Amino acid sequence: MPFRTRYTGLIERYRDRLPVHDDTRIISLGEGNTPLIRLNNIPRQLEKDVDIYVKYEGLNPTGSFKDRGMTMAVTKAVEEGSKAIICASTGNTSAAAAAYAARAGITAFVLIPDGKIAMGKLAQAMMHGAVTIQIKGNFDDGMRLVKDVASHAPVTIVNSINPYRLQGQKTASFEIVEELGHAPDYHCLPVGNAGNITAHWIGYREYSCTTADKVTEACAYCNGKCKFAGGAVTGKQPVMVGYQASGSAPFLRGGPVEDPDTVATAIRIGNPQSWHQAWKVKEESGGWFDECTDEEILAAQKLLAQQEGVFCEPASATSLAGAMRDVKSGKIPEGSSIVCTLTGNGLKDPDTAIQQSTSPVLTIDAELDEVKRAILNNME
Ligand code: F0G
Repeated sequence: MPFRTRYTGLIERYRDRLPVHDDTRIISLGEGNTPLIRLNNIPRQLEKDVDIYVKYEGLNPTGSFKDRGMTMAVTKAVEEGSKAIICASTGNTSAAAAAYAARAGITAFVLIPDGKIAMGKLAQAMMHGAVTIQIKGNFDDGMRLVKDVASHAPVTIVNSINPYRLQGQKTASFEIVEELGHAPDYHCLPVGNAGNITAHWIGYREYSCTTADKVTEACAYCNGKCKFAGGAVTGKQPVMVGYQASGSAPFLRGGPVEDPDTVATAIRIGNPQSWHQAWKVKEESGGWFDECTDEEILAAQKLLAQQEGVFCEPASATSLAGAMRDVKSGKIPEGSSIVCTLTGNGLKDPDTAIQQSTSPVLTIDAELDEVKRAILNNME
């Protein structure tokens, strides 16, 4: 059967659950609807009876989950008459902001930490025509500056402190529940600024909320921009688990980290903006935070690429690295269904991938014999 309806993005798909009007001009690149891939080889290697799925958000139009939030944030910015958007970013938000601004015909200003974002992400911001401002500081410095400047200049902030961002991002949970038929037992995410874990929880709560059906009431997460507000939540909810990189783990240290550092540059954040919301998510879902070393993160990234054929960026692999450890230890019990969000595409950061790769790259003369030898020497 041929498709009769073209998929046109998550706002159209979940229109009744998002704060848009009938005549709102939707700025979309066809984001959302990403694959939920069931892992085959890794659970077998763990020798545990668990179902692990990865939600491959790297297959969004600009290669990360940020597109879910950006379609909403830019749609609303345009609706409200804004001609320019601004964000601080470790790279993915800036890539998404640049692309959606280009689509909308408005200007994007992006503040990124000088020398600390992956090359693919920098290329995206530049290619989409954003005004790219490299600051001699980290993401947290950028965030502070963006908040300051937005109170002086006519620019709309599209970081996740913009409540529309979380509204868009909550749709990932809708897709998971629809695909599995229920929420998973555990949902594991990498945590940086903590917007995404908050958005997912809003999504799970809202999806199983039977009484709230208007985008009006205030709620603890998004100040009235979502429709989850005091309604009776009846359906199954997952335990939410947030993993951070050890060098950038404010949730594990109990407060801001002065000089965050990690190979997972996307989550190199010391002062998360959704601090209180994320603690609330942990409490309400019965979840926890934990940390992974850079070595664990890179090992998980490689394992996923080599055992399952899925290429994510380092920060994304933090969810799987943590989940595998908690499955092994039994903290996540056998029989569980687990979803790990893979937040960004591995192609974003080719430098880190190439640096840590040990797969053979052979250089030979263009001769049949040499090709034959290369094959024979490398047969399993
Ligand atoms: N994974 C990736 C690939 C990210 O880019 C980010 C955040 C996260 C995880 C963490 O999500 O901040 O909602 O907890 N990147 C932001 C950016 C900060 O600027 O691209 P979070």
